[in-house]
This record gives sequence, C-alpha cells and structure tokens, in this order.
Amino acid sequence: MQLERIKALVTGGSSGVGRALALKLASAGATVIITGRARTRLNAVAEMHPGKILPVVVDLADPAAVDTLIATLHRDHPDLALLVNNAGVQYLLDIAGNDPQKTLALAREEIAVNFTAPAALTIGLAPLLKRQRQAMIVNISSGLAVSPKTSAPIYCATKGALDSLTRTTRYRMEDGRLPIGVMHVVLPLVDTPMTTGRGSGKMTPEAVADAIADEISKDCDEVWIGKARMLRLLAAIAPGLAVRLLRNS
Ligand SMILES: NC(=O)c1ccc[n+]([C@@H]2O[C@H](COP(=O)([O-])OP(=O)(O)OC[C@H]3O[C@@H](n4cnc5c(N)ncnc54)[C@H](OP(=O)(O)O)[C@@H]3O)[C@@H](O)[C@H]2O)c1
Repeated sequence: MQLERIKALVTGGSSGVGRALALKLASAGATVIITGRARTRLNAVAEMHPGKILPVVVDLADPAAVDTLIATLHRDHPDLALLVNNAGVQYLLDIAGNDPQKTLALAREEIAVNFTAPAALTIGLAPLLKRQRQAMIVNISSGLAVSPKTSAPIYCATKGALDSLTRTTRYRMEDGRLPIGVMHVVLPLVDTPMTTGRGSGKMTPEAVADAIADEISKDCDEVWIGKARMLRLLAAIAPGLAVRLLRNS
C-alpha cells in the first residue's frame, strides 16, 4: 500500500507507538485521524502536522462512543483506507485477589479497549474499507499473547483473542477476494507510558513506527519486531522455555 495520499485511522494516536506511527504516516503524505481520550495530548500531536493529523476524542471503552466514531467515519471520511487498531491498556491484576469488584471493573475496561473496540471497528468499517481500491487493517499485538505473564492475565488474554480475530479476518478477506490486507504486528517491549518503570533494553516508539510503516508499504501480513522475533523462534523450538521466560516477567 502506498502511504502517500491515503487516509488512515490510528487509535491511541496520542501516545507511545500510536503517536509515533501517526507522525510517521503523516510525514509520508497520509492524512491520519487519531483517537484518544485526552484532547490536549491529541491536539499536541495534530499541531505537528496541521491539516494532516485530525484529532478525534473518543473513549473506546464506551460502545456507544465507538458506534458514533464509526458513523462519523462513514459520513466524513468515506475514503478511509487504513485502520490501525493500536490503542491498548495493560493493568497488573491479581485474578485471585481480595478486591474482585475493582479487578473486574479494570478487566472489563481492558477487554473493551483491547478487544471489543478493535472488533467493532473491523466490523463497522469493513463496508467502507472494501470500497477502496486497496485497504488494510493493522492489529497491534504483543509477545504476551504467545507466552502470557501471571501479572497481566486479562491483557494477555485480550491480545490472544485479537490474534485470533486478525487471522479469521484475513481468512475472510482472502476467501472473499476483498481488497483488504490484514496485518498482524507483534511488538517487543517498547519505551512508552505503558511500560514506565518496567524492563530494560526497550525499543523506541519511533523505531517501532518506522518498522510498521515500512511493512505496511510492503503489504506484509505478519510482522514480528525486534526481540519479538526471538520469542517467535524460541516458542517454535523450545516452547516450554518461552513460557517460563515470560511467566513472571
Ligand atoms: N509498550 C510496549 O512495550 C508494548 C508491547 C507490546 C504491545 N504493545 C501494544 O502497543 C499498543 C500501544 O501501546 P503503547 O505502549 O504505545 O501505550 P501508551 O503509550 O500507553 O498509549 C496507549 C494509547 O491508547 C489510548 N487509550 C487507552 N485507553 C483508551 C480508551 N479507553 N479510549 C481511547 N483510547 C485509549 C491512549 O490514549 P488516552 O490515554 O488519551 O485515552 C493512548 O493513546 C497497545 O495495543 C499495546 O498493547 C505495547
């Protein structure tokens, strides 16, 4: 897919990987709609490419707000050709802890943002995307979908569910000969607000965005970035070791 002159939606474009990807796509000539909850942070990103980055405030945990976003895109952006399901939250939760109500509230939010919203955007925007000459859906996942860690049980489960949705969406597009590529992106640890105070040797969001944009332009369907590539290999040749390595990471 040529990035010049296309119109893209990047969810979670106010921070981290989504912000870096929105800036990269805009630099390459795309018009990019970015979403997030914090208007100030969205506007700060949009001001870096006036007229090329369009901020939209939306809470992806709210199904009605997601419906409104889909309707707005159909009405105002019928030329949308690229959907990047990037927004995500990760909560450290104790699945057997002593405050189940609080844990459940956070788990519901995580499921809504990380899985329900990408599924809704895929279903709601497919009729629009398939009208384009060429279109693409990019789903941002994690090595934790392959080897989950105890401390983020719902996060890992949502990424596993997203991976399954990515695969079946691709099957549907291929079987129907629809002009929509479906790309599965697996990230390593990236230096963003999501990982503040955790881990070392993290990739920068800019390096990750460069890699994703490059693979979009090559119409790739499976992208494992940085150390995630090592995890993929390890999971194939020594699955038990891969599981042990990440279980308490
Ligand atoms: N960082 C890593 O090491 C890593 C590794 C593997 C995969 N990933 C994945 O990469 C993606 C981006 O993560 P990141 O590290 O860039 O995180 P980040 O810096 O924390 O950014 C998360 C983005 O999601 C948006 N978001 C969160 N909750 C939202 C909600 N309820 N409604 C609308 N937008 C919401 C945030 O905007 P607002 O706060 O303004 O709403 C923000 O723009 C996620 O899918 C994450 O799971 C990250």
